[in-house]
Amino acid sequence: MIKTARLDIVPMTISLASRRYVDWLNDPEVTRFSSQRHRVHSLDSVQAFISSFAGTPNRFWALIVVANGVHVGTATHYVDVANRSADIGIMIGDRDLWGKGYGREAWVALMRYGFETLELERITGGCASGNIGMRRIFEAANMTAVPLGSSNSIVTDYDDTVVRYFAIKDRWLNPTVT
Ligand SMILES: CC(C)(COP(=O)(O)OP(=O)(O)OC[C@H]1O[C@@H](n2cnc3c(N)ncnc32)[C@H](O)[C@@H]1OP(=O)(O)O)[C@@H](O)C(=O)NCCC(=O)NCCS
Repeated sequence: MIKTARLDIVPMTISLASRRYVDWLNDPEVTRFSSQRHRVHSLDSVQAFISSFAGTPNRFWALIVVANGVHVGTATHYVDVANRSADIGIMIGDRDLWGKGYGREAWVALMRYGFETLELERITGGCASGNIGMRRIFEAANMTAVPLGSSNSIVTDYDDTVVRYFAIKDRWLNPTVT
């Protein structure tokens, strides 16, 4: 488990795959910036997704508010073992909780877990350029931007050029290291 001031970040299990969780994935506002918006999700599909993590180095997490035990989002570490690197993704599924700092709080803890517990050298993340909230999190988490400069599609009403960010362990854990 990963603990923050307001969140317990625990392994995502089939028992946490509620109808509410499926509804987040089918909510076009929640998946606006994600390729998940092209799919229809069901209890079966999310259970299959959770099961797909077994036997892999990847981690699938549930974000639980400590104060009330409510499941409010998910996160992933996709681990590249050979390169001691992981790409993190996050979703606060409960839209009422957007803008309250949960995303940033979880993100920084997920990065720290990657460096300190998984002993990774590099953490990456990416989002559509128009995903301002996520970009604010990358910046607040002291990640470095690597703009790739190619648009994914022509069907969005926002800039969906992918922006990628990274952080290197030593510099991130010890900001004075150059
Ligand atoms: C993107 C997401 C994770 C942000 O989480 P959050 O808990 O709402 O973000 P926070 O409250 O920690 O806010 C971080 C910063 O972004 C800003 N912000 C959040 N949502 C924003 C929005 N829609 N527009 C502009 N700014 C926004 C906050 O004001 C805050 O700014 P600050 O650094 O000046 O304080 C959340 O909106 C989400 O899960 N969205 C759907 C899934 C998704 O897009 N995931 C990212 C793909 S990896």
